[in-house]
Amino acid sequence: MGKKARLQAVVNYARKERDQALRKKPALSPALNYRWGHTLRVVQRGMALAKLEGANRQVVAAACMLHDIAKLANKEHGVEHGRVGAKMVRPVLEKIGYKAEKIDNICYAIAWHVDWQAGYKFAHTLEADVVSDADKLDRFSVYRATIKLRNRAKSQRNHLRMIKRQLRDLEEMRKNPPLRTQSGRELFLEQLDLQIVFLKKLLEDNALTRVPKF
Ligand SMILES: [Fe+2]
Ligand SMILES: [Fe+2]
Repeated sequence: MGKKARLQAVVNYARKERDQALRKKPALSPALNYRWGHTLRVVQRGMALAKLEGANRQVVAAACMLHDIAKLANKEHGVEHGRVGAKMVRPVLEKIGYKAEKIDNICYAIAWHVDWQAGYKFAHTLEADVVSDADKLDRFSVYRATIKLRNRAKSQRNHLRMIKRQLRDLEEMRKNPPLRTQSGRELFLEQLDLQIVFLKKLLEDNALTRVPKF
């Protein structure tokens, strides 16, 4: 099996796990659809970052596709989802035909990505940094921010409170960005600054909603 076919097999496996979880619990549909979209965006971001940072693109693509597999399969949603996911995918990657060295690299990146602890000793890799950065970039993307605001804003007052909170969170996040690579950090700050400018403008626009002092 060539590189492309192996990656396609990884995608097929992730899709199968998602579909199985959906069949068991159809009510999970919005959450799993979100998770699937997030996964695809993390793959795209990871591949772009891998190129910028000189990381192995095959390893990064496979690890990004599988980084949240435990959530996608509805097996584990908490802080353990990386370590649980890594255990789930190891036999699958063996079956697909990845070399042992690549499997170790992919599994370590998945196990490590949540809280930067794999749960076992392994020489740290650039690929794990790239997967973690790709994940953070999507979690704090402009797109994700709109989803968060939409889901939480029930009334206009809540909406404004949400925006103020979001702004505070982003400004706080800006002080110490959880990014590991130079390219990831630059991209992350760029998208944070864009959101900060946008949210400030949004509050300014809203502040016009009053009778002026004549
Ligand atoms: Fe995750
Ligand atoms: Fe994720």
